[in-house]
Amino acid sequence: MANEISSNSETVPSRGQWASHLGFILAAAGSAIGLGNIWKFPYITGEYGGGAFVLVYLICVVIVGLPLMIAEIMIGRRAQQNPVGAFQELHHKNSPWQLTGWLGVASGFLILSFYSVVAGWAIAYIFKSIVGFSGSPEQIQNQFTELVVSPFDSVLWHSVFMMLCIAIVIGGVQRGIERWSKILMPALFVILIGLMFYGLFFTHGGSQALEFLFKPDFSKLSAEAALSALGHAFFTLSLGMGAMITYGSYMKKSDNIFKNAVMVSFLDTLIALMAGTAIFSLVFHYGMEPGQSVGLIFKTLPVLFKETGPGISVPFFILLSFAALTSGISLLEVVVSYFIDIRGWSRAKATFLLGGAIYLFGLLSAISSITLPFRGKDQGIFDILDFVTTNYMLPVGGLLTCLFTAWVFKRKAKIDEFGSGDTLYRVFDIIIKVVTPIAVIIVLLHGLELLPFMDYGK
Ligand code: TRP
Repeated sequence: MANEISSNSETVPSRGQWASHLGFILAAAGSAIGLGNIWKFPYITGEYGGGAFVLVYLICVVIVGLPLMIAEIMIGRRAQQNPVGAFQELHHKNSPWQLTGWLGVASGFLILSFYSVVAGWAIAYIFKSIVGFSGSPEQIQNQFTELVVSPFDSVLWHSVFMMLCIAIVIGGVQRGIERWSKILMPALFVILIGLMFYGLFFTHGGSQALEFLFKPDFSKLSAEAALSALGHAFFTLSLGMGAMITYGSYMKKSDNIFKNAVMVSFLDTLIALMAGTAIFSLVFHYGMEPGQSVGLIFKTLPVLFKETGPGISVPFFILLSFAALTSGISLLEVVVSYFIDIRGWSRAKATFLLGGAIYLFGLLSAISSITLPFRGKDQGIFDILDFVTTNYMLPVGGLLTCLFTAWVFKRKAKIDEFGSGDTLYRVFDIIIKVVTPIAVIIVLLHGLELLPFMDYGK
């Protein structure tokens, strides 16, 4: 095994590797846990009515998310390459499968450009929290609208977030990503536990929040809710664009891929449920509606934070910014690793140039007044990018990755990478060949509004 590692490091000189076993888990959990968990999961759960949606989401994490995460890590570690190089390495130089990697690099570029804008709002709200929220509920909620429509503020905070991402990714695998994940992820966990206990024991909404999240009422489960649960499982675990291929390529041969993937999926799910508990406790305590859509965090919570004071709101937005940062660096790392491995650029050059390009492109999302006609109406670049990447690009990338693993990736190599027992491998093999592709095709058709039994309002 030692030989394998040294021969790899000969062919790809100075390739980074996580320093410790925890390095991969923290960095991969850092990538998975982000705005998707703390901002998006609670608000879509609120919209789709709670428990039943949560249950379907949990099932999707297990039968689609986990197998796909295992597949991506196996591809990355076997190939010791960025997503494009990985498919070339495991198939052949001119393999059409490398398109999967290309698609991933493009998705990373596009997702980060708008993700950075939401992350910027989170940072802005740290400072708004320190100053404190005052005035009527309408005035507090208007602060968010003002932030979004002000090109100056949105661009400022987008710039701050991209600079932080660039600074960390420039530090490389161990000194940058791993070291910062080691500090940020446990900090996030501690803050979230604090908020959850506050919600459960110091408000009157705790038991109602638990009931809302964990007591399924299947009469509320529409077909669309079930499909969205599947799509969200995808997004929240950072799947479908090679983020886990890239992080897996830095993983030691001696680490067990199955166990690591289980751990990362578990932590991601745990954080989402904890965030949901904390937020809905507050929502119910103040007798508000759970279905507040995208405004749940930035518009609704500050109204509550006015009473709880900065002691709650400052940690909350710091946590949200941390979570977004460790996800942002994984998106940037995918793009950067491609230019390091394939183009032979130095890390510093790749990070500055690509980070800079993503930053400039992101300005289109930050300035909300720029719109384009899309699907029959004028929409902001932000919404268009969010829609195209989540509904088309990630599912296509995930499906191709899944098919590659099922039918092209050599069986012996797969068994070798998988690590855990024979029976477990066979279960994995069946799931990745049958269950996962079917589920992903359903999400994709839904994204294209092509499912026969759905009403797309046409
Ligand atoms: N999973 C992150 C979140 O929940 C977002 C993210 C980071 C992501 N890297 C990704 C999503 C790669 C899709 C693909 O916020």
